[in-house]
Amino acid sequence: IPVASFDCVVFGATGDLTTRKLLPALFYRFQDGQIPGTSRIIGASRTDIAAETFRERARDAIKRFVPPQDIREGALDAFIDHLDYVMIDGAGEEGWAELTAKLNERPDQVRPYYLATSPDLYGPICRNLASHGLIGEKSRVVLEKPIGKDLKSARAINDAVGEVFPETQIYRIDHYLGKETVQNLLALRFANTIFERLWTADVIDHVQITVAETVGVEGRAGYYDRSGALRDMLQNHLLQLLCLTAMESPLNLDANAVRDEKLKVLRALKPITPNDVQQVTVRGQYGAGAVAGKPVESYATELEGPSRTETFVAMKVEVQSWRWAGVPFYLRTGKRMPQKLSEIVVQFRASPFSIFPEESFGREPNRLVIRLQPQEGMKLEVMTKDPGPGGMRLRPTNLDISFEETFKQRYPDAYERLLMDVVRGNATLFMRRDEVEAAWAWADGVLKAWSDRPEAPRPYPAGTWGPTSAIALIERDGRTWHEELR
Ligand code: BG6
Repeated sequence: IPVASFDCVVFGATGDLTTRKLLPALFYRFQDGQIPGTSRIIGASRTDIAAETFRERARDAIKRFVPPQDIREGALDAFIDHLDYVMIDGAGEEGWAELTAKLNERPDQVRPYYLATSPDLYGPICRNLASHGLIGEKSRVVLEKPIGKDLKSARAINDAVGEVFPETQIYRIDHYLGKETVQNLLALRFANTIFERLWTADVIDHVQITVAETVGVEGRAGYYDRSGALRDMLQNHLLQLLCLTAMESPLNLDANAVRDEKLKVLRALKPITPNDVQQVTVRGQYGAGAVAGKPVESYATELEGPSRTETFVAMKVEVQSWRWAGVPFYLRTGKRMPQKLSEIVVQFRASPFSIFPEESFGREPNRLVIRLQPQEGMKLEVMTKDPGPGGMRLRPTNLDISFEETFKQRYPDAYERLLMDVVRGNATLFMRRDEVEAAWAWADGVLKAWSDRPEAPRPYPAGTWGPTSAIALIERDGRTWHEELR
């Protein structure tokens, strides 16, 4: 779909997110013809460099993060021509006159302001945009996570941004919503009749959501140690996956229709209290170990000092509604796990009665596994008979769709879609203020329960699936984590 000509101003232009994700994403969209000729990408940050140096750094970033076979001849030079740079103090005065002059050269462009800075700067940058007359009908502001560190700070940020931008022009990114398989979850549930009819407590035993990473804190220890896995991953990415799995059918795909339904799920989350926090949550922190055969240091060594921050969290969560009563959602996420893996597993109830003899394993439940990354796809585990005359022995076999093999095309990164959605003005895959605040309200309860019952995080060796208490959390209920890839 063609997009309008735009001037995208990226605040935090020399930072990690811009280098690793935003520039490569914009480059791919450029190659696909979605960055019209008069569009500009204007980097803005406090770093005192010339526009030419920014262009060179951008060129290096693309060479580093885009595989060489994906870079078409001449495309990199042509893309770099769209880049410009302004040294700016987001919270002060310096640089604003220059940015204003540049933007006023093309007053009719769509103007996404992408804030890839520390959230403390969101309010000050927005105030500056307003006082320099840079906000019009075609302006949009994109807010990276984290939006605050709790409900109070999230509200303060939302208030400050909301003073100058109407809600319809605010795009709060959760990049998990831009992942192809996450959107496929909507297609799976609402474009097929077979699953939705089974999507109830009568048929589903429980749901597991795992987001495992092999990386450690990657030079972000300062930020990460103040956040931990609950704030960094669970409050946003995992809860969003939970919402899409648990929500009712929206009236249509309009931004507000989808967000209304997700909000209901967030509001239905059973609060976790100091009384049950030790039974339903596990905090972990990685020690030294090995990931993919390579030795890695402990979190404390990476941080150069001891810490009580969790790098792993597992939880049993309940959605209090008719559809989900009695169906636990087990969530887990952690750094330094054995493999990068994000998946949603919907486990159906076992058959109520087996006509097969016990040794035939006839009561294994069906599972639907929705794989977000890597090797995006979906699998439905169904029971089949082992071939041969050896009697009635059953085993689970997969009805398997690998998206890569089926569609034989590159899967765009989440940021590619989301950036273009901002330019097009489609906010369906972005979070509304009340959603972010509802997610924080629930997460605040967990944080408070943890601080009322303080416990050091349980250690786990890097390269394992978290502390043993995370296994106990689910096994206590007679269930196990989905193990296929271990
Ligand atoms: C970010 C977190 O939001 O998501 C990081 O801040 C994490 O800590 C990243 O590594 C994971 O994203 P992805 O797309 O690699 O799964």
